[in-house]
Amino acid sequence: MNQVIDVLMKRRSVRAYEEKEISADVRAEILKATLRAPTAGNMMLYSIVEVTDQKIKDRLAITCDNQPFIARAPMVWLFVADYQRWFDYFMASGVEELCRQRQVPLRKPEEGDLFLACCDALIAAQNAVIAAESFGIGSCYIGDILEQYEIHKELFDLPQYTFPICLLVFGYPTPEQMNRPYTRRFGEKFILFENRYRRAGTPELQEMFAEREDQMTKGQAREGIANFGQAMYFRKFDSEFSVEMSRSVKLILEQWLK
Ligand SMILES: Cc1cc2nc3c(=O)[nH]c(=O)nc-3n(C[C@H](O)[C@H](O)[C@H](O)COP(=O)(O)O)c2cc1C
Repeated sequence: MNQVIDVLMKRRSVRAYEEKEISADVRAEILKATLRAPTAGNMMLYSIVEVTDQKIKDRLAITCDNQPFIARAPMVWLFVADYQRWFDYFMASGVEELCRQRQVPLRKPEEGDLFLACCDALIAAQNAVIAAESFGIGSCYIGDILEQYEIHKELFDLPQYTFPICLLVFGYPTPEQMNRPYTRRFGEKFILFENRYRRAGTPELQEMFAEREDQMTKGQAREGIANFGQAMYFRKFDSEFSVEMSRSVKLILEQWLK
């Protein structure tokens, strides 16, 4: 193994932090590494909002599906997929007038542009995760930032062509977090295909999920849940937060595409 692989393999989500600030020097290194992430067309279609105001952290701990550890993280970065900057630059560069002269319609950011900007933002975010990890700083993605768009739009002053795609919280892990067992992953054969997609049938799905099935708690069985698939359907997929997330994302899409 080399050091990079070692950092990648040792990373895990960290949700409890020591009361220790991240120094300015370390923060600067993490930011530098973040901004070196590959980016479509070298356009850097993202922005990072660093949340330093404790009141905003407290608010996020509630609006992001009540996750109190967000408020206790010493460093909180919001990754925003961002076409606003480039579109504003196009406008400032007289593109509208040139389109008029050429008698072509002015194109505005659409779905494809949004997805590309999301790719940029997420790739940069993962650079931040790994850079932080290399300094012994743990992190956790907060997907629930996709919920409650009305509140987050106002909280962060987000214009039309921006999309708050993920929140990252960072901090030095407590000893308990360091000693947590690692989460397990599905076997490679279920994830990596050769040349074409291979859709799994029921026997293969059962084999794939066997380990997670074994870990199901007796409590779930008592609640009339027969297997891991049923448990996950109700606990995650059809949960209140998933429904809220979809409502909120639809709103962001409507705003972006209007
Ligand atoms: C897109 C995304 C969203 C996530 N959202 C949350 C979240 O809101 N709260 C949380 O505690 N963990 C969140 N996680 C962390 C996952 O739960 C975690 O990565 C997964 O359980 C695997 O554990 P590990 O990261 O320790 O290997 C998120 C991870 C990703 C990639």
